[in-house]
Amino acid sequence: MSTRVYNFNPGPAALPLPVLEEAQAELLDFQGIGMSVMEISHRSKEYLILNEETEKLFKELLKIPDNYRVLFLQGGASTQFAMVPLNFLTPAKTAAYILSGGWSAKAYAEAAQIGAVQIAASSKETNYKQIPNLEDLQLSAQTAYVHLTSNNTLYGTAWQEFPDLDGHTLVADMSSDILSRPFDASKFGLIYAGAQKNAGPSGVTIVIIKQELLETANQNIPTILQYPVHVKNDSLYNTPPAFSVYMVNLVLKWLKAQGGLAKMAELNQEKASYIYAVIDESNGFYQGHAQKASRSLMNITFTLANEALEKAFVSEATNQNLIGLKGHRSVGGIRASTYNAVPKEACVALAEFMKDFQRRNG
Ligand SMILES: Cc1ncc(COP(=O)(O)O)c(C=O)c1O
Repeated sequence: MSTRVYNFNPGPAALPLPVLEEAQAELLDFQGIGMSVMEISHRSKEYLILNEETEKLFKELLKIPDNYRVLFLQGGASTQFAMVPLNFLTPAKTAAYILSGGWSAKAYAEAAQIGAVQIAASSKETNYKQIPNLEDLQLSAQTAYVHLTSNNTLYGTAWQEFPDLDGHTLVADMSSDILSRPFDASKFGLIYAGAQKNAGPSGVTIVIIKQELLETANQNIPTILQYPVHVKNDSLYNTPPAFSVYMVNLVLKWLKAQGGLAKMAELNQEKASYIYAVIDESNGFYQGHAQKASRSLMNITFTLANEALEKAFVSEATNQNLIGLKGHRSVGGIRASTYNAVPKEACVALAEFMKDFQRRNG
């Protein structure tokens, strides 16, 4: 009998049940070798095949052009906040950051420790209710790169379309929506994502990097932080997080079996629509944080009239096996994270709970 709950955790987050079951079945004996994937050398034939296959699957699912590499690194997205400027923010240059939430502000603050930075656009003054307007964006020949965060996990907003920046290098933190929808990877010089929301468990960070960009990378930094070193070593410069990469591999195969990213985007749209519809039809009982045009399909954020009501909401939801709904302190209220692995039934159950809660408390 299953004891699994409806998991709306913001990250680490839900993983597809078939993926967990497959990992469980293979835990003691990976591909008939009589050991788990955690117990073998990362130089073994089995691991090399896994590593190569995982990059190939990533490129296939995201339709990433041939002049890009996909890396599997450690240190989380937070290490990328430092690695990007260490590699590409050289002394004569300025890095432009678009501030759309707490994580982009952290990326900006980290880059400011390393070199010259500029806030290219920001929606901080509205408590990050929307993706910033780029009308006044001023970039120059000295702009090293432009950094954006595709989905703002804390505030529940997302870029609906990515900007064209006249040949400037675009860098994106896609930690909380990678693999949730198709997009044109060729617009980006570099993309990074901690795996623990949509791609797998924590422990591995995915970096997608354009080969041409590597030639401009700063070589006067510690070896472990140099992108070209990781590319040259196919992500095996040092011991990789083998089990996490293995889990990403299984998640990618699961995504492919679901019909790929176009299918996933459709499903994510449908899942989120059940919850947004309840917010929009609640006559203000539920107040959505994000402006409609900037709404995220991964993190749905809303508040209720007061904290006592929000506490009751979370507590009653928990009793009904709807888990992980407490909002982040920067927004307060409720946050439902509806990543790829959260099934449609979970979103329908939450929407029904929300209607019932309003009926009883409205
Ligand atoms: C958009 C975004 N960027 C960065 C991070 C930080 O990731 P990590 O904990 O892997 O450093 C998070 C974590 O929630 C996130 O949502």
